[in-house]
Order: sequence, then structure tokens, then C-alpha cells
Amino acid sequence: VTKVTTHVLQEMKLKNEKIAMLTAYDYSMARLLDKAGIDVILVGDSASNVMAGHTSTLPITLNEMIYHASSVVRAVKRALVITDLPFGTYQGNSKEALSSSIRIMKESGSDAVKMEGGREILESIDRILSAGIPVMGHLGLTPQSIHKFGTYVVRATEENEARKLVEDAHLLENAGCFGIVLEKIPAKLAAQVAKEIRIPIIGIGAGPDVDGQVLVLHDMLGITQEFSPRFLRRYHNLSEEIQGSVKSYIRDVKTVDFPNEREQY
Ligand code: KIV
Ligand code: NA
Repeated sequence: VTKVTTHVLQEMKLKNEKIAMLTAYDYSMARLLDKAGIDVILVGDSASNVMAGHTSTLPITLNEMIYHASSVVRAVKRALVITDLPFGTYQGNSKEALSSSIRIMKESGSDAVKMEGGREILESIDRILSAGIPVMGHLGLTPQSIHKFGTYVVRATEENEARKLVEDAHLLENAGCFGIVLEKIPAKLAAQVAKEIRIPIIGIGAGPDVDGQVLVLHDMLGITQEFSPRFLRRYHNLSEEIQGSVKSYIRDVKTVDFPNEREQY
């Protein structure tokens, strides 16, 4: 298998071939995604919610992200693996941003890092890129800033915020980022960005006219149940299937149906 690189993603954009991206946080799931042919795996800080049960992405630590990322990297042969820099490990201090990124690259074997924000974190981005580490940007609804937004509603619906988003996208491109995630913004605005910007634009709740899509794995598989924004297409109802299997197992144990004569030594 030939490994997907940031260069491959750039070519896909030029060929108008859409990029399929999903999150993963562990070896077993990452292996299934890679075998199924996913282009990009994001070790998202959404692990804070879906893996650890926190109510935001803020609490997850760099060590925890490295644990998730190393597990994913061990499973993957083909997909590009991008790991989120967690909250508090890159904002406002470009030296810390670089050392956090170096730890992710060295200790997990990820192919790239992703971080939230535009102009505010430009110095950090420059420094990480200077070290030869590929950086993906993330604009729009950036969950690490939820306490600033105060709500998970769609972003950049008013003109000032939309204008800043477009400016930030250009800044990230000019800095040398290899791609940008746009989260929960109007489809029309995302389409404009994907058209103006030459690097791949990956959308989540950003409409169809971008270069690729990303979803949180546990959401699209229907493992999580509480969360159902409009942009989330559920491909399965795994929560019911898993609970069904667990109920069957409980019944079989209680009734001593399991183990049977062929399931013992
Ligand atoms: O952490 C995450 O899962 C993400 C995606 C939603 C883009 O950043
Ligand atoms: Na994230």
C-alpha cells in the first residue's frame, strides 16, 4: 500500500477527488478504518468527550493525546494520521507549541498536527512549520473556544466573523499549512473558502462544496446518542447493537446457556 501524504491530499484537491476523513482514538478502530480505505484519520481531541466522558475538549492532556495517537499509528498502513494539539499546549507560546508538536511527532509517530485558530496562533504555526512538522488549521466552530462562544451554534453567520474567517484561511495557507478543517459554518462561506484557497479544505457541518468531509467516528456509527446536529449523518445504530449483544450475553450467562459443551476444555 502507498501511504497517503499531505502531497497526495493536495493532488486530490487538484483532481477534484473528495477526501474522506474520520476520527479514531484506538488501535482496533483505526485498523478497521484503514482497511476500509479511509484517506485520513484524525486523532481528535474529541477523545476528551467520546473516550474520556468529559463535557468539552478542554480537559484532555498532551500525554493522553499521545497515548491515543500511538495506538492509532500502530494500526495504520495507508491513511494519513493527524493528531490534535490539545487545549493549553500551543496558544500564546510558540516555544511550547513547538515542543508539544515535537512530542506528538516523536512519541506517537503521527504524520501531522492540527490546531485551532487563525491570526492568534500564527507565530506558533510558523515555528512548528519551521521544524518541518506539517500543520492543519481548524476554523469556524473551534470547540476549544467553547467558553468564549458560549454555545455550539453555527459560526460566521454575521459579516465580521465571516470576513475574519476568510482572512484567517488565507493566513494559514500563506504560512504553509497543508489543509484546513472548517467546522459548522454556512455552506456558502465554506464553498467560497475552498475556491479561494489552494490547500485542501475539509468540512464538518460546512456543506458539500469543500474538498473533503470529516465526522467523529462514534457519532457516525451511532455509538454516541445524545449528540445529533443537522450535519451528522448516522451510518449505523451501534449503540443498540452493542446493548443487544450485551443483553444476550447476560441472559446466556444467567441461564448457563454459555458456555456450552463445545465452548469448554
Ligand atoms: O476533535 C475532533 O474530532 C475534530 C473534528 C471534529 C474536526 O477536531
Ligand atoms: Na478537535
